[in-house]
Amino acid sequence: MKEFVTVAALTDVPPGVTKTVDVQGIWIALSNVDGTLFAVDNTCPHAGGPLGEGKLKDSIIECPWHGWKFDLRTGQRVNNPNFTVACCDVRVVDGQIQIKLPEHLE
Ligand code: FES
Repeated sequence: MKEFVTVAALTDVPPGVTKTVDVQGIWIALSNVDGTLFAVDNTCPHAGGPLGEGKLKDSIIECPWHGWKFDLRTGQRVNNPNFTVACCDVRVVDGQIQIKLPEHLE
């Protein structure tokens, strides 16, 4: 059973920012989209690019290596939902961002 883990202060991830954070040994891309937080597996399913270093526009993150785009709300690749990244639960407790990995992500 996975637990919520504190990864950053809310003030460290303002709207429009994506950070890469370590959650129990897994790199996660954490984004603030207009005040809503999203967390997905940092590893792009195309060739392993770091999504946390990608460009964020609205709820879409663009992989910096070859430009695949993913919707952070669903984890699905834009225009080809057969490719997905795992989405994590995110919550804020006392100004601290906490993430829980999905059970299948190890
Ligand atoms: S590794 Fe992400 S688009 Fe190629």
